[in-house]
Amino acid sequence: MRRFLVTGGAGFIGSNFVRMVLSEHADALIVNLDKLTYAGNLENLAEFLEHQNHKFVRGDICDAALVDQVIDEHQIDTIVNFAAESHVDRSITGPKAFIEANVTGTLTLLEAARDKDMERFVQISTDEVYGSLGPEGKFTEQTPLSPNSPYSASKAAADHLVRAFGHTWGVKYNITRCSNNYGPYQFPEKLIPLMINNALGDKDLPVYGDGLYVRDWLYVYDHCTAIWQVLQKAPPGEIYNIGGCNEKANLEVINLILDRLDKPKSLIKHVADRPGHDRRYAIDASKAINELDWKPSVSFEQGINKTIDWYLQNREWLENIVSGDYQKYYQSMYENR
Ligand code: NAD
Ligand code: TYD
Repeated sequence: MRRFLVTGGAGFIGSNFVRMVLSEHADALIVNLDKLTYAGNLENLAEFLEHQNHKFVRGDICDAALVDQVIDEHQIDTIVNFAAESHVDRSITGPKAFIEANVTGTLTLLEAARDKDMERFVQISTDEVYGSLGPEGKFTEQTPLSPNSPYSASKAAADHLVRAFGHTWGVKYNITRCSNNYGPYQFPEKLIPLMINNALGDKDLPVYGDGLYVRDWLYVYDHCTAIWQVLQKAPPGEIYNIGGCNEKANLEVINLILDRLDKPKSLIKHVADRPGHDRRYAIDASKAINELDWKPSVSFEQGINKTIDWYLQNREWLENIVSGDYQKYYQSMYENR
C-alpha cells in the first residue's frame, strides 16, 4: 500500500483529490494535514472522515515537529503538497501570509522529504509562475518563470526550492503546473463560484476591467487524475504542465453562467481592475498527454454544467460559507471598488 501525506486536503483541489483516491484506489492510505484556514473545510470531505484509509490531522505545514511526527507515525513514503494560500487578490492586500504558507511551508516539507529519504515529493504548482501571455502562444515547461503577483512569486519561489532540493540532496520530486481549476467545492472567492453565488442571489457580478482576460479552464477531476498519473508514471525530476485546452475570456464564462441560471445580463458590473492583472494564460499540456497516458475528459461546456448543477444541489454548503467571515471579505474586496 502506498502511504501519502496529502497537505491542504481540506481545500478545493486537495479534497477532490482525496475523494478521487479513496473512491478509486483501495491500495492508498492518505494522511491529510490541513491547517483549516478560511479556505479549508471539513464539510468537503464529510463522507470520508471515518474512511479507514483516511486520517485527518489539523496542523500547519510550517510546523516541522508535527510534519516529522506524522511522517514517522504513518510511515509516509510520498508527499503531495497542495497546501497554500491560493487567491491572487488576497496576495495583493496581504502578501506575507503567502510567503509563510507557500515558501516556508514548502521548505519545511522538503526538509522532511530529504531527511526521511521520501520516495517522492510532488509539488502542486501553477501556470501563473510563467507570468502572462499576449494573444498568441502557450506556456511550455521550458517557458522561463516570470511571476507577476505576490501569489505567483511565492509559488515560483517554492518551485525553485523543490528543484534545488533535488539538485543538492537528490530529493526525488515532480512539479505539476496547472491552469485555472473549476468544479465542486471551490471557495466562492474565485471567479466561477463567486459569479454563481452572486447570480443566485441576484447580486451584481463584479467584472475586473474589460472582462477580456483569458484563462485556460481545467475541470478539477481531470486535474486530480493527472496528479495520480504523475504518481504512477513520472520519473523523478520531471515537471508537467496540466491544462484543459479550454481558453475562455472571463465575460464568456460569466455569460454562460447567467444563461444557465436564467439571470439577466444587467447583473454584470465592470469594476476597477486588479493591479498587475495577467492578461492571458494558456497551457501546452502535450508533455503530460504524451508521457503520462492522461488527457482531460471533460469539455468546458460539460464541466461548467456539472459545476453549476453541483452548486445548485449544495446550497447549504455555499450558505455555510457565505454567511460567515466571507461577508467581511466581500465588503473589503468589492465595496467601493
Ligand atoms: P484552496 O485555497 O482551496 O485550499 C488550500 C488548502 O490549504 C486549505 O484547505 C487550507 O486550509 C490549506 N492550508 C493553507 N495554508 C496551510 C498551512 N500552512 N498548513 C496546512 N494547510 C494549509 O486552494 P486550491 O484551489 O485547492 O489550490 C490547491 C493548490 O493548487 C495550491 O497549491 C494552489 O497554488 C494550486 N493551484 C490552484 C489552482 C486553482 O485554480 N485553484 C490553479 C493552479 C494551482
Ligand atoms: P481568479 O478566479 O481569481 O483566478 P486567477 O486570478 O488566479 O486566474 O480569477 C480568474 C479571472 O477572473 C481573472 O482574470 C480575474 C477575474 N475576476 C473578475 O473579473 N472578478 C472577480 O470577482 C474575480 C474573483 C476574478
